Amino acid sequence: MRSKVTVVGAGNVGATVGQRVAERDYADVTLVDVIPDMPQGKALDILEAGPVLGYDSLVIGSNGYDETEGSDIVVITSGIARKPGMSRDDLIRTNQGIVTQVTQEVARRSPNAIIICVTNPLDAMVQLAHKVSGFPKQRVLGMAGVLDTARFRTFIAQELGVSVRDVQAFVLGGHGDTMVPLTRASSVAGVPLADLIPAERLAQIVQRTRDGGAEIVALLKQGSAYYAPSASVLQMIDSILLDKKMIMPCSVYLEGEYGINGLFVGVPAKLGAKGVEEIIQLDLSHEEQAALQKSADSVKELVSVMGL
Ligand code: NAI
Ligand code: 2OP
Repeated sequence: MRSKVTVVGAGNVGATVGQRVAERDYADVTLVDVIPDMPQGKALDILEAGPVLGYDSLVIGSNGYDETEGSDIVVITSGIARKPGMSRDDLIRTNQGIVTQVTQEVARRSPNAIIICVTNPLDAMVQLAHKVSGFPKQRVLGMAGVLDTARFRTFIAQELGVSVRDVQAFVLGGHGDTMVPLTRASSVAGVPLADLIPAERLAQIVQRTRDGGAEIVALLKQGSAYYAPSASVLQMIDSILLDKKMIMPCSVYLEGEYGINGLFVGVPAKLGAKGVEEIIQLDLSHEEQAALQKSADSVKELVSVMGL
């Protein structure tokens, strides 16, 4: 039997995730959105690409949740992005309401699902989805680290004129200004990054990575990135549905790992059929640990705004 993936929020990220999953041909897809007819229209459009591209995934759209029943994975992308004049607190409060309602609906109909949250502010929203769903920590996680790492790898590959496939890197921490690109644990074909790129230039690449989301927003003028974000979600879905046990940075619930307790923060995790199957503990330097703690502190601040 085919797996079933539900994507809530059929906007830029959500619809593109739906498209990418359908093209993999291993799961049926349900797109849910509050806008009347929109998820139905996008789903039909993706479905009709099947004969051309050769996939048989069933893709349906809905403004309700009955069709999501029994999903193996639920991706939550519903929410708003910050607009001029809105404070971060405004964004949190609006998305808190949306993510709470969505999580209640999906958790009731798919009690065994794995939830991948994408809505921003990411780490705070995953914390919320975990609390509202009541799911075990292994089955609730957030996408950010794969995207931030992909940006870092892109810039490194460009700088050195090498294939992105040869660049290994990790970006840890919360999805925000305080994220921690781990230069010490990054390498190109096994050669440490510090031996290949002068420190000053590397610092510029790290900063560009931290500003990666804002760079796209400034270019698009409206909306934010969705091609790389949806590809990042797909990699997580691949690892779970195909039980590949890939290790990638995800926002996961920490209970003492990295000295952080009771908080969702981005660290390397092994993803397989059970969801988060292992948290990988890297040996961080004093400086890296301090940067990760600072990032966790800013996530904690956002979580406290929600009263969790
Ligand atoms: P978008 O505006 O294109 O799509 C959001 C969709 O959510 C809209 O179609 C809207 O109608 C829908 N929606 C709103 N309330 C809903 C509800 N109660 N139930 C169902 N659907 C609802 O936005 P986009 O670009 O797809 O981004 C979605 C979210 O993902 C934003 O919060 C954005 O900041 C975040 N994001 C996070 C990334 C990450 O790395 N974690 C990367 C890219 C985006
Ligand atoms: C990004 O990093 C908006 O969080 C989103 O592109």
